[in-house]
Amino acid sequence: MVRVEDNAGAEFAGQGRASGTGAALLEAAMSATDSPSLYERIGGAPVVDELIEAFYVRVLADPLLAPFFHDTPLERLRRMQKEFFAMALGGPVTYSGRSLAHAHHGRGIGREHFAHFVQHLLETLKDIGVGEAEADHVIEHINTFANEITGTSY
Ligand code: HEM
Repeated sequence: MVRVEDNAGAEFAGQGRASGTGAALLEAAMSATDSPSLYERIGGAPVVDELIEAFYVRVLADPLLAPFFHDTPLERLRRMQKEFFAMALGGPVTYSGRSLAHAHHGRGIGREHFAHFVQHLLETLKDIGVGEAEADHVIEHINTFANEITGTSY
């Protein structure tokens, strides 16, 4: 069985498949075996909305993280995060914000901040009722962006 969502680069699952000769065959082969994206498995747009809303309540209540967001327009941030998560989890959404490296560069975000952020994400996923296996997949996937956030890949 093809389990694209378990592979590196799963955020692009369903996008950018080959076109031209052989594409129809590939498409048919994949649709026969494709499993739903992580985005679909957690419940799609309404769940991503709920997740991001509840997540930032937690993040902004954390004294280690809140100062980073003092000058941030939160409405845009939540909108961008919803797009980013939807896309990163394989949803049919195009992220229209800045690159993660660019948006986070020079803010002094370290591993400790990143770890808190991810811990809040895990707790929020549990709070809103996302199953443990799916929640673990989301966290695994989000962890792959650590270097872009903490500046080690800039
Ligand atoms: C994998 C984890 C993370 C992801 C996927 C993520 C994603 C995003 C996205 C999509 C934006 C919007 C970019 C835009 O406006 O164009 C953003 C902005 C921001 N993020 Fe993150 N972020 C992560 C971790 C963190 C952490 C750990 C911190 C701080 C502790 C942080 C602080 C910020 C701040 C302050 C902004 C607003 C920048 C501004 O005001 O323009 N992020 N993030």
